[in-house]
Amino acid sequence: MTTTPKPVYFLLLFYLCLKILALAQDENQFIYNGFQGVNLHLDGIAQIHPNGLLQLTNTSKQQTGHAFHQLPIRFNSSSSGLPQILSFSTYFVFAIIPEIQNLSGHGVAFTISPSTDFSQAVGSQYLGLLNSSNNGLDSNHLFAIELDTIKSPEFDDIDDNHVGIDVNSLKSNVSATATYYSSSERTNKSLDLISGDPIQVWIDYDGVKNLLQVTIAPTRIPKPDRPLISTHIDLSSILFDYMYVGFSSATGTSRGSHYILGWSFNKSGQAESLDFSKLPSLPKQKKPKRFPGLQVTVSLVTVSIVLIITTSGTVFFLWRKKYEEIHEDWEHEYGPQRFFYKDLYKATKGFKDEELLGAGGFGKVYRGVLPSSKEEVAVKKINHDSKQGVKEFVTEIASMGRLRHRNLVQLLGYCRRRGELILVYDYMPNGSLDKFLFSNEKPTLNWAQRYRILRGVASALQYLHEEWEQVVLHRDVKASNVLLDADLNGRLGDFGLARLYDHGANPQTTHVVGTVGYIAPELTRTGKATTSTDVFAFGAFLLEVACGRRPIELQGMPEEMILVDWVLEKWKEGDILGVSDPRLEGDYSADEMDLVLKLGLLCSHSNPAARPSMWQVMQYLDGVNFMPEILIDGAGIGMLATGNEASAEFVMSLPSSFGKVSGCSMSSSESILSKGR
Ligand SMILES: Nc1ncnc2c1ncn2[C@@H]1O[C@H](COP(=O)(O)OP(=O)(O)OP(=O)(O)O)[C@@H](O)[C@H]1O
Ligand SMILES: *[C@@H]1O[C@H](CO)[C@@H](O)[C@H](O)[C@H]1NC(C)=O
Ligand SMILES: *[C@@H]1O[C@H](CO)[C@@H](O)[C@H](O)[C@H]1NC(C)=O
Ligand SMILES: *[C@@H]1O[C@H](CO)[C@@H](O)[C@H](O)[C@H]1NC(C)=O
Ligand SMILES: *[C@@H]1O[C@H](CO)[C@@H](O)[C@H](O)[C@H]1NC(C)=O
Ligand SMILES: *[C@@H]1O[C@H](CO)[C@@H](O)[C@H](O)[C@H]1NC(C)=O
Ligand SMILES: *[C@@H]1O[C@H](CO)[C@@H](O)[C@H](O)[C@H]1NC(C)=O
Ligand SMILES: *[C@@H]1O[C@H](CO)[C@@H](O)[C@H](O)[C@H]1NC(C)=O
Ligand SMILES: [Mg+2]
Repeated sequence: MTTTPKPVYFLLLFYLCLKILALAQDENQFIYNGFQGVNLHLDGIAQIHPNGLLQLTNTSKQQTGHAFHQLPIRFNSSSSGLPQILSFSTYFVFAIIPEIQNLSGHGVAFTISPSTDFSQAVGSQYLGLLNSSNNGLDSNHLFAIELDTIKSPEFDDIDDNHVGIDVNSLKSNVSATATYYSSSERTNKSLDLISGDPIQVWIDYDGVKNLLQVTIAPTRIPKPDRPLISTHIDLSSILFDYMYVGFSSATGTSRGSHYILGWSFNKSGQAESLDFSKLPSLPKQKKPKRFPGLQVTVSLVTVSIVLIITTSGTVFFLWRKKYEEIHEDWEHEYGPQRFFYKDLYKATKGFKDEELLGAGGFGKVYRGVLPSSKEEVAVKKINHDSKQGVKEFVTEIASMGRLRHRNLVQLLGYCRRRGELILVYDYMPNGSLDKFLFSNEKPTLNWAQRYRILRGVASALQYLHEEWEQVVLHRDVKASNVLLDADLNGRLGDFGLARLYDHGANPQTTHVVGTVGYIAPELTRTGKATTSTDVFAFGAFLLEVACGRRPIELQGMPEEMILVDWVLEKWKEGDILGVSDPRLEGDYSADEMDLVLKLGLLCSHSNPAARPSMWQVMQYLDGVNFMPEILIDGAGIGMLATGNEASAEFVMSLPSSFGKVSGCSMSSSESILSKGR
């Protein structure tokens, strides 16, 4: 037989006392950030949503809903030896979503009641609290703060948006239109109880001073400094020792959904604030409507119109952006040569890589088919960052558009965009000559074809230099700028393009533009392009075509590196035909080969004065005139060699052999079109 030792009993008793005290304490204060899992006493159509939202009523007619704290609150605490204190504090957040805009009935009331049985109470203006026979009776012991949204004349309601203090009666002891004091604006601001937005309510009763204060505010602001209602009222005759606290709500013919989002109550101090992040969200609001059908139609139409306008606006904006061009007043006279970017964009399938023909020192070249004429074109996109000089360039381009020669690649027109100039040329189906000469992807051209190409290019250059109304300098004669048409005729392209880079340069200096190996020695000194510098480049081109080699080949044998020097050397050795392109396999006219090589050397003379004109070149190529014999003397050779050594050194100092050269020199800029012939 064992007995439990006495201290254990004491401990157990002590623990139970603590537990009871704690429970008692707990029952006089609570905080519900939403009502998920909270055991409230609900009746009528009140319900707690799964997200913790307490809904007192929905939009059903003539309904009531009640939600009360399960256990009664002990209001009279004087039995514990302290003076009786009826003080309490409560705070909650509610929302009323009306069924129809600007009309919702009847309201919500925070209620302190001796019982939770409201079976005899009615809805509408009685708010589910009382009925017509017991309204106003002292025996009710009912205290409520009503948030009334219908003006009921029988209760002398001030309006349909007020807060009232109800003692045993729906006829409010004190009432005030719903407003809140904004301390920042120092004014009362009106508040619409049925806005559908959550609204905060603070009810504080000081049982010592018998002071009741009611404060309301939207959720975005803290508790206002000044209460909406501040009134002296003695609740000692109304409240029993134990009272139930909760909410009552009702609908009538006008109706709305009444919600409580969160609630805290405190009998022994200020009711704590709620944690807004934990409060349940309200159901998605269908915009309340006055004339449902019409409203829906109108808003649908409005939304559609707005959508259409914004979409088309955006599309138009993007379209504009995509096809944006720069067009200036001075360009009007070049109108016919102006292309729409949109057309070029479509022609090249959006400048697709598949349409890319190649890329050079100025930009990329695309093949395209013009949408209107189905004409095949080559579209050259030139990036340039300077505005300067574009006008002059376009002027020249435009006038060059009038150039017509069977051995020129026809310039069809241009288009300007920001930082971009686009030139449109005739499409040359066989591409550029350099591919035939230096790569194995194209068949080797026989000597007759080559000679025809040389003659054609020479006549085109002669046309530019001498036969047009103004002198046009090409400035970039070389195999890659000679294109071949369907009949393998040589056509000179890219005339005058180098000019663009000139214009973009620092105004103090002029860039020498051209390609290494084709730049006349005096050009690097003076920076002044002339017909003679074009002839120099043509000389390099003649040797290129005859020898099937580039003017400078860094990979080659040292003595063969500079083509012109090597040809000269072989000539001195008496074996000038030894430099002819091995791919011709000796199948050429020796006289013509000899002529082309010697003419190439003559054009490459370091002294510009010693170089022939393009007219003379044509004479020699056509066999109408014979080349002067002077060159074969030592003097000419000497001069030639010296000049090219200088340019060779210049070339060697460059990292890449065939890049565009922009060397600096001091002469002022001059036009491709030299004035006054
Ligand atoms: N009108 C055209 N028709 C067909 N193909 C062209 C046409 N114009 C240019 N191409 C192709 O595009 C390539 C690039 O041309 P691009 O003029 O940009 O460069 P490049 O001639 O090598 O150098 P540069 O910038 O000195 O002119 C050419 O090699 C040629 O194959
Ligand atoms: C309102 O709630 C009650 C009970 O939950 C339900 O029977 C009624 O259909 C609801 N009415 C509306 C309009 O939602
Ligand atoms: C609803 O009330 C607002 C503000 O009180 C007012 O501007 C609006 O015209 C009213 N709408 C209707 C349909 O009465
Ligand atoms: C009003 O309510 C009281 C009890 O709260 C009940 O006795 C009485 O019959 C009700 N009167 C009507 C008209 O419903
Ligand atoms: C308000 O309540 C007080 C005290 O209960 C009472 O004296 C007063 O007459 C009431 N006022 C109204 C308008 O009911
Ligand atoms: C603001 O409201 C309070 C309480 O209703 C009232 O006492 C006060 O006079 C009002 N002030 C203004 C400026 O309307
Ligand atoms: C509070 O309780 C005490 C003792 O139980 C009682 O004397 C007093 O009258 C009560 N006060 C009220 C207002 O009920
Ligand atoms: C009640 O008031 C006391 C004293 O201010 C405070 O400590 C307590 O947190 C409050 N409880 C609630 C639920 O508001
Ligand atoms: Mg080119």
